Amino acid sequence: MVEVPLNKFLKKMFSWLAIGCPQRQSHIRLINATGTLTRNMSTQAKLELDGKQFSLPTMVGTEGEKALDVSALRASTGYITLDDGYGNTGSCVSKVTFIDGDQGILRYRGIPIEELAEKSNFIETAYLLIYGTLPDAKQFKHFSDLLAEHQFLHEDMKYHFEGFPTGAHPMAILSSMINAASCFDEGLMNWQWGKLRQFDVYVAKLISQVRTIAAYSYRKSHGLPLIYPKQTYKYTANFLHMLFSMPYEDFELKPEVVKALDLIFLLHADHEQNCSTSTVRMVASSQANLFASCAAGVCALWGPLHGGANQAVLEMLDQIHKEGDDGSKFIMSAKDKNSGKKLMGFGHRVYKNHDPRAKIIKRACDSVLEKLHITDPLLDIAKKLEEAALKDSYFVERKLYPNVDFYSGIIMRAIGIPVEMFTVIFAIGRMPGWIANYKEIMDDPKSRIYRPRQVYMGKTINPYLGVDQRGK
Ligand code: ACO
Repeated sequence: MVEVPLNKFLKKMFSWLAIGCPQRQSHIRLINATGTLTRNMSTQAKLELDGKQFSLPTMVGTEGEKALDVSALRASTGYITLDDGYGNTGSCVSKVTFIDGDQGILRYRGIPIEELAEKSNFIETAYLLIYGTLPDAKQFKHFSDLLAEHQFLHEDMKYHFEGFPTGAHPMAILSSMINAASCFDEGLMNWQWGKLRQFDVYVAKLISQVRTIAAYSYRKSHGLPLIYPKQTYKYTANFLHMLFSMPYEDFELKPEVVKALDLIFLLHADHEQNCSTSTVRMVASSQANLFASCAAGVCALWGPLHGGANQAVLEMLDQIHKEGDDGSKFIMSAKDKNSGKKLMGFGHRVYKNHDPRAKIIKRACDSVLEKLHITDPLLDIAKKLEEAALKDSYFVERKLYPNVDFYSGIIMRAIGIPVEMFTVIFAIGRMPGWIANYKEIMDDPKSRIYRPRQVYMGKTINPYLGVDQRGK
C-alpha cells in the first residue's frame, strides 16, 4: 500500500481530532489503493481511524476534478469533516458551469465564455444556463415572448415601493420586492415542484421582473417617477429605458451602451458554487419557491466580500483622485501590509492565472470609452493603476491580475450607471445562474435538505441558575 499525502482539509480535520481531542487520538492514514487518484471509478481511498480501516469512494468529474465521497463517513466512522469556508468541500454535483482557476477557464454548459461573449447575448445565454442547450429559433422566440409578456409587475406592488424611504439601498429593495412578489402570485404561494406545470413562466417572470424591480428601486431611491417597460424594447434596452427615461422624454439608447451592459449581464450570468449561488441552493433544498430562493441569493450577493467589489473599485479611484494622486502613491500603499489598503479589482480566490471575464470586459471597456469619447479623471487613474500593477513584481509574483470587477465598474460609470446600482446589475446578470442551480436541485429526485453538521466547542452540560445565583 502507498500513502497519499492528506490534502489540506483532511489534515485540518484530523489534526484537530488528534490535537484538540487527545482522548480520541487516532492513527490516521489516507491511502489510495493504486497510489494515485485516477478516472477509475473503482478507486477507493482507505481511511484508518481508531485502528479500523474504512473505504471512501472517489469520484472524478467530466473535467477530471477529483473528490472523495464522504456521504457515508459519519454513519460508518462517527466522524464528520470540518472545512471552514468550504474551500475543500464540494457541496453538490452540477452540470451548469465549469471553472478552472489555474488555467483561467470559464464555461457555461461546456461553451467557453469567450465564444458566448462574442456570439451570444444575455437572454440566449440565460436560456442555455437554465435549460442546458442553446435554444433553436422557435425556442428563443417563445422565451423572448414570455419575457415580454411577464415584464410588468402586479400594479399593487407599486405601493410597496412607496413604503421604502428615499435613499434606501437598491439591493435592500430588490431582495424585499422579489420576495414580496410571491404575495401577488398564487402559484408562488402554493409552490409544489412536483405539481408545478409552468416553470417556464416563473423563469420568465423572475428574469423579466427582476429588471423592472431593479429599475424601480433606483427610481424610488432617487425620488424619481416610475417608468413602465416598453413592449417593443429588448431586455437590456428596456432596463436602460426604465432606469433613465423621464415621463416627458425617452432616454437615448446608444447601441454601444446597450451592447456593453448586455455583455456585463452575460459575463456575470453564472460562476459556479459561490456564496450567493450556494445560498440559493441551500434555500431551494427546503423546497422554498423560486422567488424566495433567489431573493436570498440577492442578500448574499449584497455583501462587500462578494458582489460589492465593483463598487469598491470606484470608491478607491475616487479616493485616489480626491487625494490628488495619479495612482502611484496608492500602488505603494497597496503593497504595504500595514496600510490596510488593497488594490481593489485585483486578485481572485479562484483565478490565479487570469480572470477570463476581465480580458473580455477590458476590450469592451476600451471600445465603449472610445466610442463615447469619454474623458474622466477616474478612468485615467484606473488605466495608470492597471499598467503599473501589471509591471510590478509584487503583483506579478502573487499572480494578482485585474478581475472582472475592475473593468465592469469603469464601464458602468462610463455609461452612467450610478455606483449604488453596480451590485444590482450583478444580481440581474446572475439570476439565470441562480435559476439553473435552483432547477438542478429540484429536478434531482435524490435531492435532500441541506443540513451541515458542526463541531460543538461550547460548554458541556451547564445547570440553569436563578437570577440571584448569577455572577457569584
Ligand atoms: N492588493 C494588494 N495585495 C493583494 C491583493 C490586492 N488586491 N490581493 C491579494 N493581495 C496579496 C495578499 O496580501 C497576499 O500577500 P502575501 O502573500 O504577501 O501575504 C497575496 O496577495 C495573496 O492574497 P490572498 O489574500 O491569499 O488571496 P485570496 O485568494 O485569498 O483573495 C481576493 C482573493 C479576496 C479577491 C483578494 O485578491 C482581494 O481582496 N482583492 C481585492 C478585492 C476584489 O477585487 N475582490 C473581487 C474579487 S472578484 C469577484 O468577487 C467577482
